[in-house]
Order: sequence, then structure tokens, then C-alpha cells
Amino acid sequence: MTRPKKFAPFSDIDLTRWREYEHIWTDSLWLIEARDRTGGHQLDYHGNFVPQIATQTYLRYTRADEIVLDLFLGSGTGAIEAVRLNRRFVGVELNPELVETVRKKIPPDLLDRRIHILQGDSTREETARRVREVLRTMGAESAHLLILHPPYHDIIRFSDSAADLSNAPDLEAFLDRFEVVARHGFDLLAPGRFAILVIGDKYERGELVPLGFYCLERCRWVGFRPKAIVVKNITGNERGKGRATNLWRYRALAGGYYIFKHEYVIILFRPESGIRSTEHAP
Ligand SMILES: C[S@@+](CC[C@H](N)C(=O)[O-])C[C@H]1O[C@@H](n2cnc3c(N)ncnc32)[C@H](O)[C@@H]1O
Repeated sequence: MTRPKKFAPFSDIDLTRWREYEHIWTDSLWLIEARDRTGGHQLDYHGNFVPQIATQTYLRYTRADEIVLDLFLGSGTGAIEAVRLNRRFVGVELNPELVETVRKKIPPDLLDRRIHILQGDSTREETARRVREVLRTMGAESAHLLILHPPYHDIIRFSDSAADLSNAPDLEAFLDRFEVVARHGFDLLAPGRFAILVIGDKYERGELVPLGFYCLERCRWVGFRPKAIVVKNITGNERGKGRATNLWRYRALAGGYYIFKHEYVIILFRPESGIRSTEHAP
């Protein structure tokens, strides 16, 4: 007689066999040794995340064939992982050239059917409307997992476009625009499901700017609830060692800094019931 299986409503992990899922991480510290370059992933874009972030979160927070929505698609790491793990996907990216590059990475029989890549500004109402239309063509009212991997304000300038969050003139403007995207993401996500915010901090004028905590706060204003903060090491995308590293070491010693070796994978969820908050904190 086969034993009945038991699942959390948001994943295909069979809880009756929980001991067999050693490849799925449940600790809040992720020390990733190297970027996963298998399964179609390439390191062709400065500012992408390591595929393991997508692997881990898709396996934990989605079931096969469910829909992942990524509102800062970049070079398409999230899309490629969706192909690999048999998830459906909708991605939005501002930069038209990147959109074309990502479309070329997707198997043609999946493109515009299971994997949708849209060019657009994720802060705009019109873009959210287009995403909703695409979801409907996929037979869904909402997405099952939301990925938010915005620019870390102006640390890397992704384009010259004024709509690019990396060109926001100051911190408040960056956070305001991020909040608008988070609000669209909240509305497009099914109640009870998860959102992943990938973000790092920065230094400015001798001060730490804790972008991760500020963005988390904005997500809470929008109505998300926090589930976990994972700290992950920065691997795979580091700039070359050598002079620059020595310079940072010098600056750290002289100015009292610590050199960033980590970023955050913040797990949030949209509560099952209750409407989104329109109230802004201070
Ligand atoms: C940190 S990268 C995302 C990288 C992605 N996770 C990957 O693995 O390739 C942020 C991306 O957001 C895009 N972006 C910036 N402002 C945007 C906006 N208003 N709407 C949509 N995309 C935007 C940038 O062009 C950039 O590609």
C-alpha cells in the first residue's frame, strides 16, 4: 500500500518524505560557493543574481506549472530557471535590448506560451495591466510567486532611461518607485503566496544606506508580511581581485567600514485575506 503524500499548499515537496530533500535549504545563511552555470545560465550580465536563488525559491514556493512573475527581469535568470524547473513565467524588463537577448535564450516552443517576456516600465499602471492580460491568456488571475530584484539604487547604472530605478535622483525617489512596483506585484500575486526581494545595501558619503531594510519597510507598507531574511554571500559576480580590493581594504581600515560580502534574499507573503494597506507610514 502506498503512503498518502502530504504537501504544503504552495509547493510540491512531499512532507511525508521530508528527509529526502537535502538539496533544499532551510537555513537563513546561504554560503554559495560558485554560480550555477548549468541549465542555460551564463554570466553575461553584471547585476544578475545567482541561479540558485531562483532554484531554491521556486522549489519551496511554487508547484510545477505555476506562474512566477519577475518585475525586474534583467538578463533573465528567473526565466531560464522557470524553463529548467517546468514553471510558467512572466518577466518585465525596461531595457529593450535585454528583452531581445532574453527572448533568444528561451526555447521557441515555450516563448509566448509558457514563458512571457515583456518590455515595459514596472512602475506604470499600464504595464501592470498588460501583465494581468498575459496572466489571463495563461488561464490565471494572478501569479503564484513574485520576484523583485531591483537595482541597488545607483550602485550599477543599468541604462540612461529616466524610468530606470538606478537613475532615481535620490534615495527617497528610488524607494518611492520601488514601492510602486511592489504595490503592482502585490496586486498581481495570489493571496497566501510568496514574494522574494533580492537586495543589497550601499555606502554613501561615509554612511551605510541599508537599502534592504528600507525596501522591506516599503513592502510592509504595501501589505506584504515578512517571512524570513536570508543573508547570502556575494558570489559569482565579484569584480576582479587586485588593486580595487586593496583600495576597499584601505578605505575600510581608514574609514571604519566593513566591505560588503553579503546581500539579502527577503521572503515575504501576501496574507490570505485582508486588503492591501494604502496607509503610508510617516
Ligand atoms: C538587479 S537587475 C535584475 C537582474 C536579474 N534578476 C537577473 O538575474 O538578471 C535590475 C533590472 O531592473 C531593470 N529595471 C530598472 N528599472 C526598471 C523599471 N522601471 N521597470 C522594469 N525594469 C527596470 C534594469 O534594467 C535591470 O536589468
